[in-house]
Amino acid sequence: MSENFGEFLFPLKKIVEGMTEFFIPDFSQMKTLKNYAPSKVPVFYNPSMKLNRDIAILVLQAYQRTINRNLVVSEPLAGCGVRGIRFAKEVNGISEIHLNDINPEAFKLIKRNIKLNNVEDAVFLTNEDANLFLSQHDAPHKRFDYIDIDPFGTPVHFLDSAIRALKNKGVLALTATDLAPLCGVYPTAALRKYGGFSLRTEYSQEIALRLLAGCLAFAAAKHDLGINIIFSHKNNHYIRLYAQINQGAKKANQSLKNIGFIYHCFKCLNRKAALLTRLLVVTDCDECGSTLGSAGPLWLGKIADKDFCELVEIEVCKKRIGDENRARKIVRLVKDESDAPPTYFVVDCICDKLGVPIPPLTKVISQMCKNNYKIWFTHFHNRGFKTDAPAKIVMEAVRKALY
Ligand SMILES: C[S@@+](CC[C@H](N)C(=O)[O-])C[C@H]1O[C@@H](n2cnc3c(N)ncnc32)[C@H](O)[C@@H]1O
Ligand SMILES: [Zn+2]
Repeated sequence: MSENFGEFLFPLKKIVEGMTEFFIPDFSQMKTLKNYAPSKVPVFYNPSMKLNRDIAILVLQAYQRTINRNLVVSEPLAGCGVRGIRFAKEVNGISEIHLNDINPEAFKLIKRNIKLNNVEDAVFLTNEDANLFLSQHDAPHKRFDYIDIDPFGTPVHFLDSAIRALKNKGVLALTATDLAPLCGVYPTAALRKYGGFSLRTEYSQEIALRLLAGCLAFAAAKHDLGINIIFSHKNNHYIRLYAQINQGAKKANQSLKNIGFIYHCFKCLNRKAALLTRLLVVTDCDECGSTLGSAGPLWLGKIADKDFCELVEIEVCKKRIGDENRARKIVRLVKDESDAPPTYFVVDCICDKLGVPIPPLTKVISQMCKNNYKIWFTHFHNRGFKTDAPAKIVMEAVRKALY
């Protein structure tokens, strides 16, 4: 006998995230149903993406304050609607939120969640393919101030239509969860999807972010648009990027000046960044002569704007979002490392290379500071740091820190 869940094909349960209550499919009950498989979960909700959504709320609020008027926002792949409905309830200065999902079950559940939260006046809902939905918003008077693309895997299939549906100076937020291609496990897949090779190094998650940013810069440039990365961060299973889009062929040319390659020596950990505009093809390490690995073309420019990060930091204090400390730590580190050069070192990786035990990070840092090199801690790795020192100096500092 089939069970009766009203208008839904599955049981629901109510949960709270941030200041928002909403229904999700009740997985615990579903596990008792015949034919249950996680891949068959009818509408998507991932509790481990809460931090991603918390930071999105902080960034969107900070952006709204810079624009200082009501915003029109959209989420074309909305799942159960938690992100968009949280925007409606937790971000001030939003006049309209347009949610969309291709899945009819998601559509029904979002509708239910909109009603539950009494946000019918501000939240509009459609049940279409995301590219079709975005294309219907490409006329200038229909465009959005902020578009949040949070898909399964890669966001690249939605870049063109999202860019065309954004107002001048609007913000595009992108999540990518396909870290295997982006972090160098499948470099050819990264070339196919992102137009650049990935590379498996200790800083491959930064390369991943830079590949996504580079891909966005090329996509925007086709429409005579430049990009400015205002905030970005990584987490274990995804990378996340917030880019402001600026109209003008000159702006597009300017942003393409940030494209280049990263070269990496797997023998001595030497690394170099080379801009595409001054392309010199580097094949051998200038320290040890080994053949270098390379990543790119990718974005070598800033992956966060310090002033904007300060505004996000203010929102962390004001909003007091549940997982405040994690969000605060990420925002502070992203701000602090916003002026640092590309790539970082990880002490454990250096020790592995040197075949020595791992000294305390603080001792390595104090060795580096003795030589007046700059150090930036990085949110990418809790035992990592960025520096203006060459790899051989960093290796030397690690050796000295052992005694
Ligand atoms: C990762 S989930 C979204 C999660 C949501 N953004 C959140 O924060 O909880 C991806 C969603 O995209 C939807 N989807 C997949 N392909 C789509 C397409 N071509 N157009 C619109 N929605 C799509 C799926 O039904 C799924 O609900
Ligand atoms: Zn070398």
